[in-house]
This record gives sequence, C-alpha cells and structure tokens, in this order.
Amino acid sequence: MSRIAYVNGRYLAQREASVNIEDRGYQFGDGIYEVVHVHQGRCIDEDRHLDRLERSLREIRLPMPMSRAALRHVLREVARRNRVTEGLVYMQVTRGVARRDHAFPAKPVPPAIVVTVKRIPPYPTDVDRWAAAAITLPDLRWARRDIKSVNLLPNVLARQAAKEQGAIEAVLYDEATGMVTEGAATNVWIVDEHGVLRTRHLDQVILPGCTRGALLAELREAGLPYEERAFSLEEARRAREAFLTSATSFVKPITALDGRPVGDGTVGPVVRRLFDIFARHVKGPPRNLAA
Ligand code: PDD
Repeated sequence: MSRIAYVNGRYLAQREASVNIEDRGYQFGDGIYEVVHVHQGRCIDEDRHLDRLERSLREIRLPMPMSRAALRHVLREVARRNRVTEGLVYMQVTRGVARRDHAFPAKPVPPAIVVTVKRIPPYPTDVDRWAAAAITLPDLRWARRDIKSVNLLPNVLARQAAKEQGAIEAVLYDEATGMVTEGAATNVWIVDEHGVLRTRHLDQVILPGCTRGALLAELREAGLPYEERAFSLEEARRAREAFLTSATSFVKPITALDGRPVGDGTVGPVVRRLFDIFARHVKGPPRNLAA
C-alpha cells in the first residue's frame, strides 16, 4: 500500500507528493514541526502538542494554517488512511512559497502544511531491553530552543555522532557553564547522587517536552517528589539513574554515558517505576471491554 500524506489541503500518494523548491521551510528552515505518538489509533498528549505548535507558530509570527479542530481531524485522517494504529504523526508548517528573500514575503503567502505518518513497533513492554547508551556533546544550538523549529542541523549532527558511537542520544551541555540542557531530540532526567529526581527547569534554553510535561503531571498526581532544577554534566556522571523522555522514546533508561555506566549500569528502581507510570498514561484508563 502506498503511503498517503496530507499536503496543503489534499491527501496525496506520498511518492507523488512534493513541496515547491522555493518553500521557505526548504530554503531557510523557516517553519515549525511537531511529532505525536499514535497508540491504538489515539494521538497521545495531543492537546499538549497542539498547544506547543500554536505557541511556536506565534513566536515566529505565523498563523495556524487551519483551525485546531480541522488539524485534529487531519492527524486522525492521515493515520486512518495509512492504517497506522502504532506510529508517529509528523506535521510541519512553513512560511510558504515566495521568491528567496530573508525577510518575510512582502505580500503574505499562505503557510504550507504537510502531515505524514510512519509506523513504529508496538509500545515497549520490557524496560531492560528499552535501556540504551548516550554520549555527551557541547550544545551548539541557537538561543530560542523553546521554539520547535525545523532548523535541526546541530541536532542532526549530534544524533549522528551518537549513532556512530553506538549510542542512541547525545546529551547536550552548555560549554560555558557545564550544565546539561537536553538531548538532541529528548529531555534529560536524572536521579542524582542524593536520590532526588531532577529535570531541567523550562526557559528558552530547552524545548518544553510534551512527554516531560505529561510525566510531571503523573508524578504530581501520584504524589511523587521531583525537582525542576538544572544539573551539571558532572552531576549526570555521578547520578544513580538517568533517562530520557520524548514522543519517540517515551521513558527511556540511559544506563551508560560516554561508555561509562550510570549508577551500576542497569535500569534503576525509579526509572523502572516511571516507565510503568508512563506506560499507563499512554494506554489510558483500563477500559471495560464487556461494557
Ligand atoms: N523531538 N527536546 C528536543 C530538542 C526535541 O526535539 C524533542 C522532541 C524533545 C521532547 O519533546 P516531546 O516530549 O514533546 O517529544 C525535547 C521529536 C520527537 C523529534 O524531533 O522527532
């Protein structure tokens, strides 16, 4: 079955779908994106992703390309037409097509929108097998990382470096301060040497991850303590446990950092518990199938 993409108002066979070579997303990275996890046909944390999309667009002075209700429909429709029940929906909004000039088009053009979906393996159930290694690298990105822009060159290079070293993520740090910012495409958490669960506070230095936000809400609900406080690379190296969160990695234990074990190098009790808590969040409240 050929894949179907939504492109500027039409559902097209993906191999025939294309964007204009003067699209500002292509030329300048002048656009915003979101990645949403689809589980059992439902978009997980959809409101958080749509809130963040609206905010990112506002920050770069782009209007929403359609109403929120219409966009929700398109996300579902792309998943449905591709028969994807376990996957990742990708949406991208750019400032549209105009003759190349850095400043915004003098005569406004409609924003361009693309939505695609890809299938992923079923939700992981074995947290030990879900664990992985990460490396560390200086954070080379711009100053507004709270905006989910399609400009991802430093992230791409960092992820590639991780891959070449047999790791799944690069944990990025500020070279001037030695403080961890986030991963190339994830938020970073530790259980520090004193046993405190920590993730960096939000500001313009990191992306406000939807998975991060959803997990924090679950922690509050369960009455589990945590701190939103930055930690240094050295603290990360001394941490008892470490993990990542994102729409693609869920709660992902990091058991090795730069080739050295985190804690004893196995999945620790806190991450194990949070993996379960987040799995319940994704799967939703138990449903009475007989009803
Ligand atoms: N990345 N930080 C960065 C830099 C990210 O790119 C992402 C998400 C996150 C986690 O955000 P969320 O929990 O909302 O997925 C943090 C997506 C998955 C991507 O680029 O594919």
